[in-house]
Amino acid sequence: MWTIVLKIRGIQPQHSPFTQPDHDMSDILVHNEAGVTTLTFNRPDKKNSITASMYATLADALAVAEADANVRCVVFQGNETTFSAGNDIGDFLNNPPATGDSPVFRFLRGIAGFPKPAIAAVCGPAVGIGTTLLLHCDLVYAGDNAAFSMPFVNLGLCPEAASSLLVPQMLGYHRAAEALLLGEPFMAEAALEVGLVNRVLPPSEAANYAHAVARKLAVKPLSSLIETKRLMKKGQAQQVMAVMAEEGESFGRMLREPAAREAFGAFMERRKPDFSQV
Ligand code: COA
Repeated sequence: MWTIVLKIRGIQPQHSPFTQPDHDMSDILVHNEAGVTTLTFNRPDKKNSITASMYATLADALAVAEADANVRCVVFQGNETTFSAGNDIGDFLNNPPATGDSPVFRFLRGIAGFPKPAIAAVCGPAVGIGTTLLLHCDLVYAGDNAAFSMPFVNLGLCPEAASSLLVPQMLGYHRAAEALLLGEPFMAEAALEVGLVNRVLPPSEAANYAHAVARKLAVKPLSSLIETKRLMKKGQAQQVMAVMAEEGESFGRMLREPAAREAFGAFMERRKPDFSQV
């Protein structure tokens, strides 16, 4: 059925870009082809959780993609079973970001201000920043196994990536409260309903679809893509950056406080956190 849908829309499925060969064996694969930069989370043994060095790679790759006139759009992807489990919790415990120049904040500013189209193919868990980065993507294609969650409160933290502004705008306040105060996951169909994703596909087709869309964008005039995105975003571009900075200050402080230390310790020890003393 999905193959037919793709053909009707003039998009031919190819081999799975989730498994495209790449000689870079790092935790983030950066692949450039025909005007499209693909950024692949490639740390499957840790559910594609993201370390500081991975954020640095992502931030650098976005800066290069922005500056390179041959690049017209970027695609974020994980694999068919996992997008990303969010921040690496051990890294947070041992190496919490200290300043606004830390790789995680550099990456967040990079994606929030990225002037060219950004696309995501999301299958499986998309936790924390795995979901909030999608708020800054222009087009999101989800596998029907995608599960989105922002469990910041459950980790003794607060929202990041301007999600305290953008999630209530997108979901409405009460559904945002479920997602952000309760930290409850929601599945692909719910994400489609609220407009967080553009289309739900079988997991084996999500990345192909995203790449087919990227190829369509890559032959359009770059200046028109950039100006159109700028005009769509400009109404609250400054506010997004301001909210992100405020969240970042709170987030950085809360990472060092007892609630987060308890939550991270509990995750590492595979036990339930005890917040009765914090
Ligand atoms: N940071 C560090 N390691 C992580 C991680 C994270 N965010 N998420 C998963 N891992 C590691 C696990 O510790 C485990 O490592 P091990 O095999 O060395 O013990 C491995 O990845 C597999 O994780 P597991 O929990 O067994 O996989 P699962 O399929 O049962 O569950 C998730 C997948 C994503 C639902 C679950 O791992 C999870 O909830 N992770 C934490 C998400 C989170 O809170 N992120 C922070 C957001 S700010």
